[in-house]
Amino acid sequence: MIDPQAHRQSGLIDPFNRRIEYLRLSVTDKCNLRCFYCLPKHFKGFEQPAHWLDFDEIERVIGAFAALGVKRIRITGGEPLVRKGLPELAGRLNVLAGVSDLSLSTNAMLLSAHARALRDAGVSRINVSLDSLRPGRFEAITGGKLQPVLDGLMSAKAAGFAPIKINMLALKGINEDEFEDMVGFCLEHDFTLRFIETMPMGTPGRNASQHYLDLNTVKQRLAQRVDLIPGVMPGGGPARYVQVKGTELRIGFITPISQHFCATCNRVRLSVDGTLYLCLGQDHKFELRPLLRDGISDAGLQEAIYAAIALKPERHEFNENPGQLVRFMSMTGG
Ligand SMILES: C[S@@+](CC[C@H](N)C(=O)[O-])C[C@H]1O[C@@H](n2cnc3c(N)ncnc32)[C@H](O)[C@@H]1O
Ligand code: SF4
Repeated sequence: MIDPQAHRQSGLIDPFNRRIEYLRLSVTDKCNLRCFYCLPKHFKGFEQPAHWLDFDEIERVIGAFAALGVKRIRITGGEPLVRKGLPELAGRLNVLAGVSDLSLSTNAMLLSAHARALRDAGVSRINVSLDSLRPGRFEAITGGKLQPVLDGLMSAKAAGFAPIKINMLALKGINEDEFEDMVGFCLEHDFTLRFIETMPMGTPGRNASQHYLDLNTVKQRLAQRVDLIPGVMPGGGPARYVQVKGTELRIGFITPISQHFCATCNRVRLSVDGTLYLCLGQDHKFELRPLLRDGISDAGLQEAIYAAIALKPERHEFNENPGQLVRFMSMTGG
C-alpha cells in the first residue's frame, strides 16, 4: 500500500536515485519553421486538436507535478508561440503553488508580438534557437526569414528578459564558420550563448548526423581566439559553461553525444497529447490524457505520476543505438 504522505516528503525520485524537479511542457507539435534536423519539410502527421491537452488539463497536470516537487517548468514545442493564448496559459502556470521558475524555448518568429505579455505573465527566462546570422543560410537551415527572429530577440530584451540564451546547433559544413560571429553578436547584446550537439532523433536528426560536430573541438577552437575562463550559470542544467575573460559573456556547451549528462538528469517531458516521455532519447512513456479524460481523482493522478517516474530509464543510447528513435525533436518537446 502506497503511503502518499511519505511520497510527498521525498518528492519524485526515479529508480536511479535522481530527483525529478524539472518538466518541459510541449504545448504544440506544430511549428512555423522546418529546421532540417528537427522536422521533415512535408510532414503532415501532427497531433489532432481533439488530443491536445486543453489549458485546464495542462494546469491540472502541472499543478500535480508541482505538488510533488517539480519547481521548474519550461514551455516548448514544436513552436510554443503558435499555440493560441500562450501568455494566458503561462500566467496560469506561473501562479501554481510550487512553481518557482517558468521559462520558454522559442524560435522567436512570433516573439515581437508576445514578449511583453509573456513577461507580464511571469515567464522569467527565454531561450531562442538561432543557428545563423546570415539570412540566406538561416533560410536554408530553417525554411524561414531571419529578420523576425532578430526583431523578436530585441523585443525580448526591451521587455526585460534576462538572461536571454541563444541556442546554436553546431553543424559541420553548415555554420561552423560562424561561431566567432555568434560570440560577437552575444557580446554586443548581452545574450548568453550555448552550443548544442546534434542528436539522431528521428529521420531528420539522423540525416543531420553527417553534420555532427564534437563540441570539445569547438571549445578548443574558440579558446584560440578568446580568453576563456571557467564560468557558471545559475540554475544548473546540462550545459557546461565558460566565460569570456573581461566580459559578462558566458558560453555553454551542451554535449549529449560526446559527454552525456544522464547521471544528473532531473527532467521529464510532457507532450501536447498528454504523453509523458521519461527520456529524450528513449521510448519509455506514460499516457496521462486517458486518465484525465476518464475523471481520475487528484490522488489517482499523483499515483499515476509516481508510476510514470518509476519507468525513467538510466540513460539515452544515441551512440550505441542511433537508429532506435522514431519520433523527432518537435514531437517530444525539445
Ligand atoms: C524542438 S525546439 C522547440 C522550441 C522552439 N521551436 C525552438 O526551436 O527553440 C527545441 C530545441 O531543440 C533543438 N533540436 C531540434 N532537433 C534537434 C536535434 N536533432 N539535435 C539537437 N537539437 C535539436 C533545437 O535546436 C532547439 O534549440
Ligand atoms: S527546432 Fe524549433 S523552430 Fe526548428 S523546426 Fe524544430 S520546433 Fe521548429
